[in-house]
Amino acid sequence: MRILIVGNGGREHALLWKLRRDAPSAEFFATRPNGGMAPLCEAVEIAPTDVEALSGWAAAHRIDLTVVGPEAPLAAGIVDRFEAKGLPVFGPTKDAARIEASKAYSKDLMRGAGVPTAEHHTFTNLAGAEDFVREQGAPIVVKASGLAAGKGAVVCMNEAEALDAVRSMLGDLQFGEAGREVVIEEFMEGEELSVFAVTDGVHSVILVPSQDHKRVGEGDTGLNTGGMGAYAPVSLATPEIIEEARRTVFDPTLAAMAADGAAFKGLLYAGLMLTPTGIRVVEFNCRFGDPETQVVLPLMDSSLLDLLATVAEGGSLAGRSARVRAGAAVTTVVASGGYPGSYEKGKEIRLPAGLESEDLTVFHAGTEERDGRLYTSGGRVLAVTAVGETFAEAAEASRAGAARVDFEGAFFRGDIGWRERARNGTNA
Ligand code: AMP
Ligand code: GLY
Repeated sequence: MRILIVGNGGREHALLWKLRRDAPSAEFFATRPNGGMAPLCEAVEIAPTDVEALSGWAAAHRIDLTVVGPEAPLAAGIVDRFEAKGLPVFGPTKDAARIEASKAYSKDLMRGAGVPTAEHHTFTNLAGAEDFVREQGAPIVVKASGLAAGKGAVVCMNEAEALDAVRSMLGDLQFGEAGREVVIEEFMEGEELSVFAVTDGVHSVILVPSQDHKRVGEGDTGLNTGGMGAYAPVSLATPEIIEEARRTVFDPTLAAMAADGAAFKGLLYAGLMLTPTGIRVVEFNCRFGDPETQVVLPLMDSSLLDLLATVAEGGSLAGRSARVRAGAAVTTVVASGGYPGSYEKGKEIRLPAGLESEDLTVFHAGTEERDGRLYTSGGRVLAVTAVGETFAEAAEASRAGAARVDFEGAFFRGDIGWRERARNGTNA
C-alpha cells in the first residue's frame, strides 16, 4: 500500500507514526516532511495547497490513500480534486470544509439543526457590529468568520476590547479576507473538550476526548497559540457526556450537512464547552487537532488506517468503534522564544540520546534536517508525548522529556493537564 500524508506539522508526524504502526509494510510519502517525518517517508516537494499538482503526482505514483492534515488544502478543494481523479482520499470536500472555513456557515447550520451553541449574529458592516456590541455589552466574543490560523477569536471581557476587535477585523482588515465577515457571540463559561469523530458522513467513530491548552503561559495566561500541550483521557468526559455529544452534536450536524448536499466525510472535530446547562459547541474543525492528535493516537489501541481507508473508499463505519488503551497520555509543546509573536528560526536542536522510548515519543512540528543536524523552523518546534499508567505519571514524564530538549530560546509550559491534576487531587 502507498500512503501520502499532506502536511508537515506535529499532527502529521503523529498520523505518520500511527499509520506506520498500523501498516508496517506500507510505503509512506509526505509533502515537505519535517525533520522527524523525513526519516520515515519519502519527500514530495509540492505545497499542500497546490491541489492540482498534488493530485497529478498522486495519480502518477499510484497512491492508494491520501490523508490530509491541515485545513487549508481541504478548504482549497483537495478532496474534490482527488475524488474527480478517482483517488481515495480521507477528508471533507470543499463544501463540507466550510464547517471550519466559515464560522457564519457553521453557526447557521447549528442553529438550523438545533445543535447547542452560543447565540450569535453575523456582520459585514462595521457600524452594525459596533451598535450590536454596545447593545449587548461584555463579556462577549468576536470572531473572524474565515480561516485565521487559530487566532481569529477574541474573548472580550469589556466593551472597549470588543469594539477594538470588530474595528480591527471589519475596519482595518487585520485578518484580511477572513475578517470581512464577523461573528459576534455570547460568552460561554465552562471547561473545554476536544472531541474527534471519524465519520463516513452518517456514522461516526468517536475517539478518546482530550483537552488542549491554547494560552502561551502557565495557568492559561497570556496570548492564544495554536496549542501548547494536551492530555487524554479527560475525566470530565464520561461515557454519558460522549453519548450526549453524539446525540446532540455529531448526529444532527452530520444529518444537516447531508441534507444540505455537503455530507461530511473525514474527521469532524467538535470543540465543546461543558457548561452548567450541558454541552455546547464552541467551534467545529474539519480535521484532526494539533496538538491533541499527539495524545489521542498514542492511546488508540486499534487500527486508524482501517477507519480512514474505509471512509476514503466510500465504505460504511456502521457498527465500528476504536479501542482505547488503559492509562493516559500527555504532550508538552516545546516552542521557540517569542512565540506566538515573532521568533527566530534556524536554531540547532539537541535531543539527548535515549530520550525516546516505548512510552515517550518526540513528535516534530517546526523542525528541519540539514546535513544530519536538526534545526528549528517554526514557532511550535516539538511535542513531547508520554504515555503512562496514570495521568500523573504521563504528565511528569512529558514535562521531564520537554526539559531535556535543548535549543536557544526553547520554552514550554510545565503545567499541561493542571485541571485534571486539580480534579485528581480533589477526588483523592
Ligand atoms: P475558536 O477559534 O472558535 O476555537 O475560539 C478560540 C478559543 O476562544 C476557544 O478555544 C475558547 O477558549 C474561546 N472561545 C471561543 N468562543 C467562545 C465563547 N462563545 N465563549 C467563551 N469562550 C470562547
Ligand atoms: N488545537 C486546536 C486546533 O487544532 O485547532
